[in-house]
Amino acid sequence: MRIEAKNLNYTYSPKAKDFSVRALKNVNLTIEEGDFFAIVGHTGSGKSTFVQHINGLIKVQKGSGELTVGEFDLTDKKCDFKSLRAKTGMVFQYPEYQLFAETVRDDVAFGLKNFFPNLSEKEREEKVKKAIELVGLDYKRIKDRSPFEFSGGQKRRIAIAGVLVSEPEVLILDEPAAGLDPQGKKDFLSLLKKVHGSFVKTIVIVSHDMNLVSEYCNRAAVFSNGGIYKVGSPKEIFSDAAAVEGLGLELPVTAYLENELKKAGVEISSDLTEEDFINNAAKVLIKKGDNA
Ligand SMILES: Nc1ncnc2c1ncn2[C@@H]1O[C@H](COP(=O)(O)OP(=O)(O)O)[C@@H](O)[C@H]1O
Ligand SMILES: [Mg+2]
Repeated sequence: MRIEAKNLNYTYSPKAKDFSVRALKNVNLTIEEGDFFAIVGHTGSGKSTFVQHINGLIKVQKGSGELTVGEFDLTDKKCDFKSLRAKTGMVFQYPEYQLFAETVRDDVAFGLKNFFPNLSEKEREEKVKKAIELVGLDYKRIKDRSPFEFSGGQKRRIAIAGVLVSEPEVLILDEPAAGLDPQGKKDFLSLLKKVHGSFVKTIVIVSHDMNLVSEYCNRAAVFSNGGIYKVGSPKEIFSDAAAVEGLGLELPVTAYLENELKKAGVEISSDLTEEDFINNAAKVLIKKGDNA
């Protein structure tokens, strides 16, 4: 499903003149099926407001532009938001706070029951098992335990299983790695990598972690003050270091090193993933060695 926003605007409390906030301003953005798409930008730039539009959690305001997600026209009064939400799973910051049920199984099954009430008990259980195993947890051992007994990272996995269980085509994550320790972050990212392309087609991730963006995402949009500053590959986004830093964003380590080395007369041009950076750096260094 392709996600396409045209001239999308959004104002919080539009009627309360003194308190209204224009959170989105003429946003034009297309996210293609298959993208691992990053949304970055300073706090308050409109990232969360935008992604919550995608699954209809925030409704497009009248006369405030267009938004389509696959066959769903979100400006249409007859839009089937329940089907849309089944196909566009949303994971919030601190997803473990979304947990609520008495057992892991009930928690993971909740969305499924809501979206697909006609599944048999057996079908449902199979899907729950598959989702729990997909996030790297042991179904048999944990299914009857309380979700609250687990560590932060594990709770997060359970919450994500509860989204993946409905087999969404699009997975939307709003700062999902916030508050995880480095190992927890790594595990979480390899989980995303695993599900992308196999279980879910498209990932849209809001993140402050530019290393994540350069390492995993094929495209990114930079939000600034409710509008879009730039859309492109990580390479295109981070090539203008001054502009990126001017927006209050950091550079990925690879982009930072390329810049610093360039100043020292060493020209390395990678796609900014660690692997490509190292390969290119090795080539350049070997060449230098040959010339010496
Ligand atoms: N529920 C709300 N009511 C009023 N204003 C809000 C609400 N949520 C966000 N805003 C405002 O809308 C703007 C965009 O916020 P948000 O989409 O949360 O940005 P981001 O996710 O990039 O930090 C900010 O100015 C923010 O203060
Ligand atoms: Mg936000």
